Amino acid sequence: MCGIVGATGTAAVQATLLEGLSRLEYRGYDSAGIAIQNTSNGAFNRVRVVGKVQQLVDQLEQKPISGSAGIAHTRWATHGKPSERNSHPHMLDGRLTLVHNGIIENFLELRADITARGGRFESDTDSEVIVHLVAEFIHGGMNLAEAVRRGMSKLEGAFAIGLMSSAERGQIVAAKRGCPLVIGIGKNANFIGSDVLSLRSFTDRFLFLEDDELAVLDSEQVTIFDGDGNQVDRATEIVLDQGDRIDKGGYRHFMEKEIHAQPESIRNTLEGRITSSEVVAQTFGIEAVDVLEKTEALTIVGCGTSFYAALVARYWIEDLARVPCDAEIASEFRYRNAALPKNSLFLSLSQSGESADTIAALRLAQTRDYLHTMNIGNVTTSTLMRDSDSAIAMRAGVEVSVASTKAFTTVLVDLLLLALVLARTRGFPGEEEREIVRALHTLPEKIEQVLGLKERMQTLAEEFVTKKHVLFLGRGTHYPIAMEGALKLKELSYTHAEGYPAGELKHGPLALVDRKMPVVAVAPSNELLRKVQSNLQEVRARGGKLYVFTDEGTEFVPGPDVTIIEVPEVHRVLSPIVYTIPLQLLAYHIAVHKGTDIDQPRNIAKSVTVE
Ligand code: G6P
Repeated sequence: MCGIVGATGTAAVQATLLEGLSRLEYRGYDSAGIAIQNTSNGAFNRVRVVGKVQQLVDQLEQKPISGSAGIAHTRWATHGKPSERNSHPHMLDGRLTLVHNGIIENFLELRADITARGGRFESDTDSEVIVHLVAEFIHGGMNLAEAVRRGMSKLEGAFAIGLMSSAERGQIVAAKRGCPLVIGIGKNANFIGSDVLSLRSFTDRFLFLEDDELAVLDSEQVTIFDGDGNQVDRATEIVLDQGDRIDKGGYRHFMEKEIHAQPESIRNTLEGRITSSEVVAQTFGIEAVDVLEKTEALTIVGCGTSFYAALVARYWIEDLARVPCDAEIASEFRYRNAALPKNSLFLSLSQSGESADTIAALRLAQTRDYLHTMNIGNVTTSTLMRDSDSAIAMRAGVEVSVASTKAFTTVLVDLLLLALVLARTRGFPGEEEREIVRALHTLPEKIEQVLGLKERMQTLAEEFVTKKHVLFLGRGTHYPIAMEGALKLKELSYTHAEGYPAGELKHGPLALVDRKMPVVAVAPSNELLRKVQSNLQEVRARGGKLYVFTDEGTEFVPGPDVTIIEVPEVHRVLSPIVYTIPLQLLAYHIAVHKGTDIDQPRNIAKSVTVE
């Protein structure tokens, strides 16, 4: 998704802006650009490329741009295809330049009005209307900050913007509504960025803008104004470096590194949250026990992988705590008039903490009669973590690969802890909690063992390379895991894949099964095993090729059309976490064989900050 970076200081900023852009690459993008002001005459030099930040770096190496203030952007096309003229920064008459993340929903109306007043557009983007609007206010006699504030009032939709004008040298005006934007405070320099990580090399001091606020930056100071133009006092926050190293650490891809980091990320998320026999209730905030005691129902929302985590949690919460739990896709929840049971807890899940639909779901929940809003997130400075009543960190460490892996397994661990604390308030037997907690202590080692399936998955992946469709089946908590396995495969290898509850096979998908159709079954030994076995017989009877992930000792018989992959046995409650790992490895290795862009798959983004 689009990324913004800006810097104004007393020294040259080209390298700073490029470093910031490279730190935003993980968000997914298709073009990149930079505009730097010549501080002696206020003019801008701009370079834009379709493709990777590295291409921008290469061009600027040949022909560097000097200047101590500038803005830069990575674009993820929404309005208008990826092309140089649609890339940011946009510019008007060489005097005003803009970077934008988000979607301006009324851009067609605004564009028609501006065109009728004689404005001429150079791109197909919604963003370009902002430059025109601001320019019109400047022509009316306003300074840049005032013109941006007035321009904003005409915009509908979501945005984070950074603008510079040749009349106000060395000044950046930044504003946001519904999209992320942070301000970094440096020494003789100040910065804007789409996230803390993008500015991590330059500062650990940050200011966080609220929606509809505007900031004016130069090399010496940052001033914040509200939507009415009143100055706002905002405390600087120190965000300590959590040792987040953005390198591949010897792995071929970030995704491979992140898959292998899971024993450590799970160890981290458990640290201090379980004793030898129970879950520490304060993990979920000081008020947790009180809130959870009062909770009579839960609504859990998320997008993509986070939604699948919500689905697993629903099984756990209803099974262990006997509390009704709804799991819902955020983009559906936000536009649905959901009936709200009394004393409901709203829980959002989001790795980035910036998914626009999940934020909108929280905003809706804040207007409804929820008991409490809670978020489990991986970015402590994110909107969802900051704006929920309480927030719990996944502690997965920075996840760079667009396809989520370690954030999924760590959020599952945290959700299980939540289910256990909730269950305790409902009289869940201490002995059963102790047994699950003991199993949780050994989970990182179990994950290490499962990672040992790497070579096997590498070989197995070859059988999938030419397949056009793959069906994933599971039951109970493993049904969402089947969907997650299918999602990983489609995201990474562009293979069509569906995750289905195995019991639903005969109600439709069985029609697709023939000798060309691989069927992957997630079938640990539990109370549903016999049912899954019967479902799989239906596949065998139609000549389908089965790949069964199961525990040692289950009675699956390998054969020419049945491949058995043994997964180490684990407590039945924890098996969805463990069975996720081989499916990640399988999708990863299929993608390696197919040669796709694993860390940044086509058309999708890590942090989806637009609706
Ligand atoms: C995008 C990513 C997915 C991710 C989803 C939710 O679609 O491509 O990998 O699961 O966003 O992201 P979040 O940061 O809210 O968990």
